[in-house]
Amino acid sequence: MSHAPLITLNDGVQIPQLGLGVWQLSDEQAFASSAAALAAGYRHIDTAMIYGNEAGVGRAIAESDVPRDEIFVTTKLWNADQGFDSTLRAYDASLKLMGLEKVDLYLIHWPLPSKNAYPSSWRALVQLQKQGRVGSIGVCNFNAEHLERIIGDTGVKPALNQIEIHPDFVQHDLVEFCQSQGIHTESWSPLGQGGELLNQLTLKGIAAHHGRTVAQVILRWHLQTGHIVIPRSSNPGRIVQNFAVFDFELSAEDMAAIAAIEQGKRLGPDPATFNLGA
Ligand SMILES: NC(=O)c1ccc[n+]([C@@H]2O[C@H](COP(=O)([O-])OP(=O)(O)OC[C@H]3O[C@@H](n4cnc5c(N)ncnc54)[C@H](OP(=O)(O)O)[C@@H]3O)[C@@H](O)[C@H]2O)c1
Repeated sequence: MSHAPLITLNDGVQIPQLGLGVWQLSDEQAFASSAAALAAGYRHIDTAMIYGNEAGVGRAIAESDVPRDEIFVTTKLWNADQGFDSTLRAYDASLKLMGLEKVDLYLIHWPLPSKNAYPSSWRALVQLQKQGRVGSIGVCNFNAEHLERIIGDTGVKPALNQIEIHPDFVQHDLVEFCQSQGIHTESWSPLGQGGELLNQLTLKGIAAHHGRTVAQVILRWHLQTGHIVIPRSSNPGRIVQNFAVFDFELSAEDMAAIAAIEQGKRLGPDPATFNLGA
């Protein structure tokens, strides 16, 4: 069985470059998809408190034959729980739901600049890590100014920034800023949420040339760009398909053709203004 390549984060921890995302899956679907993914060779699962399926993910890990220490699990602090003490409480609540002693990566889900609690939330994550209660710590949806503020406050850089990235929305400047800081980027909605991107003509042509699906070509583009990537699927066949991307390579011409299709189409909210649950 093949495994995803490992990326070494700035804290020395290694993360499988491709994992399963479980947003919008029910607890039962997250259980089934996580179980199917572990059987297919995935060793990395990305959930969040707000997805309401941490228990299902935890159950799949508990019932799997794969040892716990071979699985990289991420969950996220929800917006309503931001603040120092409430972050510590939310982390404990997530662990309890997942039935785990620690997670490998704990992320602040959104910066919520209007709430202005992300700096104290980050200090709580730093404390958890210093106490050895969490593996790596990081953020999602942080712009450069949010990153600069928490790094300036604590001197601790997030291990990664999980942000919306797909060939239609590549966030070149933010990715470059993260790289300059030694912060890895992790792509969310990497397949454009399974929408029109999967019918894009250039991608279809490249997929036909390689005898692959468009989804596989997109995932390969993320991997070759250097992103960590977490495609979601609730379909066992597509879970397997999305993992069968380590045995072919896009050429420099393919990569250049994909770079040319960007239209700057953001699918999710803008982190500068998003304040759900604030
Ligand atoms: N931090 C954040 O703020 C944030 C925000 C959004 C997402 N995320 C994370 O990123 C993960 C991935 O993003 P996402 O869930 O938005 O979307 P995505 O992975 O870009 O796309 C998922 C959609 O694509 C379909 N799909 C998957 N594989 C396919 C294939 N091989 N062929 C055709 N269709 C395929 C899925 O349908 P089927 O299930 O039917 O296969 C599903 O509808 C999330 O699950 C979550 O873990 C994080």
